[in-house]
Amino acid sequence: MKKINTILFAVSCSVIVLSCDNTSQEGKLDSKQDSLVVNLETDTLKLVNSKCFSCHSPNMEIDNRLAPPMFKVKDHYISDSTSKTEFVNSVWTFVQNPSEDVSIMPGAVGNFGLMPKQNFTEEEVKAIASYLYDNDISTDSWYVKWEAINKKQ
Ligand code: HEC
Repeated sequence: MKKINTILFAVSCSVIVLSCDNTSQEGKLDSKQDSLVVNLETDTLKLVNSKCFSCHSPNMEIDNRLAPPMFKVKDHYISDSTSKTEFVNSVWTFVQNPSEDVSIMPGAVGNFGLMPKQNFTEEEVKAIASYLYDNDISTDSWYVKWEAINKKQ
């Protein structure tokens, strides 16, 4: 009897140890995934910054603006019922071949002239558009994040 008790004790100890170990592993994986998401977001913001913000600058105070700020473009392309796929596809449709036919911002075309056609890949434009859909680029906290990245780039 004493022996069985000892064995039971040993088994339950190892179960406790194993389960503790498991949760800490999961915790590690979760935080690893979180930091991957943060890294991916930062990388995509860098991409938007280098590919789009040279013209669509978030800084409202620059004098010689070349295009409307991106949050205004986003406003025109998103209503309450616009899905992410719809948004991403409509941005890609315009960017791959800008024309007055697909433009929904005649005022911007009048003010700045049609956006020049550039060699962006579908993959990068869709990653950029997903980022624009997922992030509120009109808030002060986002602006601070962008400014920090813009200074480094
Ligand atoms: C060389 C400057 C320039 C760059 C770089 C640029 N754009 Fe534009 N874009 C413009 C101008 C100018 C307009 C406003 C005129 C227009 O709508 O065509 C515009 C308008 C747009 C519009 C609204 C189109 C409409 O009229 O409905 C979208 C969407 C857009 N840009 C997306 C992008 C994205 C995404 C990027 C980066 C991958 C980008 N642009 C990079 C100049 C630029």
